[in-house]
Amino acid sequence: MGGVVTIDQKQFIKTARQATGGNDVIAVVKNNAYNHGLQFTVESFLEAGIKAFATTSMDEALTIRELSEEAMVFLMNPVQEIEVAREKDIHITLPSLQYYYDNKDRLSGVKVHLEYAGLFNRSGFENAEDIKEVIRDVYFSDQEPGIDIQGIWTHFGYADEIKMDHYELERSLWMDVLAEVSSTGHNFKYIHAQNSASYARDGLFTGHTHLRLGIALYGSRPYSLLSADDYVQSLSLKAPIIQIRRLTKGQKCGYGGVYEAKDDVHIAIVDIGYGDGILRKRADFDCMIGTRRFPIKALMMSHMIVEVDDIVEVGDEVVLYSNGMRIDEYTNLGVGANSEQLGALNYNSLKKVILNDDRVCR
Ligand SMILES: Cc1ncc(COP(=O)(O)O)c(C=O)c1O
Repeated sequence: MGGVVTIDQKQFIKTARQATGGNDVIAVVKNNAYNHGLQFTVESFLEAGIKAFATTSMDEALTIRELSEEAMVFLMNPVQEIEVAREKDIHITLPSLQYYYDNKDRLSGVKVHLEYAGLFNRSGFENAEDIKEVIRDVYFSDQEPGIDIQGIWTHFGYADEIKMDHYELERSLWMDVLAEVSSTGHNFKYIHAQNSASYARDGLFTGHTHLRLGIALYGSRPYSLLSADDYVQSLSLKAPIIQIRRLTKGQKCGYGGVYEAKDDVHIAIVDIGYGDGILRKRADFDCMIGTRRFPIKALMMSHMIVEVDDIVEVGDEVVLYSNGMRIDEYTNLGVGANSEQLGALNYNSLKKVILNDDRVCR
């Protein structure tokens, strides 16, 4: 049957609700909602009380709009499909003075969020003066205001880097910019800066209307010092054992004899591999069979070799991820970022099961 990803929808919703801490949240659902499935995720987050969504692609923004007429949909990438944004009521980022002047006429009636680059510096205005120039041009010049400036935002590049001290600097640069821009008297409906790590560190900043959370909503800790109890993981990944083989000491198996038995052993051949999106580094660590952990010895495209004992049988399920084998645990062990492990999962070959009320509903 191969690998199966199971998401417990009730827990998924519960985890998301808990992650918001009762604050207004813009849920980051880019890349097919961190590979959980956009429709499933948006519907679940709406049920968790979340009313605003952010993504990086216009296609995803339009899908969200179809799923909810009322939701605030924010496109974080600079776009040229400005007319579509206006028609479908998609909020877009305003990333620079150049973009503003190049597109000023086309932006009439479009809802925008001014972006401050800060230390992350992937996109955005470099200083408060340029942001103020746009506000003055839109609201304090002779012309009728064309653009609808609804928001202001930034993204932190160091909030997750708990061992580096740059976060304090980028946070204070942002606060200074915000204070200076606020001196124009313009009222923003949306002021948002914080991802999961920044929120875990500081709570919602004063004067900010929304958090902009990703990974915490999906049940992973942004950094390992946090308690796992506050971020219950609703996703699990398992695959069945399709063969048990006995090897005598010195016998090899796999491509190029990658595995050599150090003793007389039993090995389990499991129906999952890197072709299903298991990161190679993940195979440096254990898997779980029943309640016991066993070492993975080799990872191939469609198969995995696990050293087991004589109790383990064909058909037993081998767990690679669960709330007891958390994605963030492996992030901490160096397997890859939470989003990297999630994003790699290959739903063309894995079966996906959504559990709801103990029933399989999708
Ligand atoms: C601009 C922006 N905001 C917020 C987030 C959410 O970050 P996290 O998943 O760490 O909460 C991301 C994720 O990459 C992002 O790119």
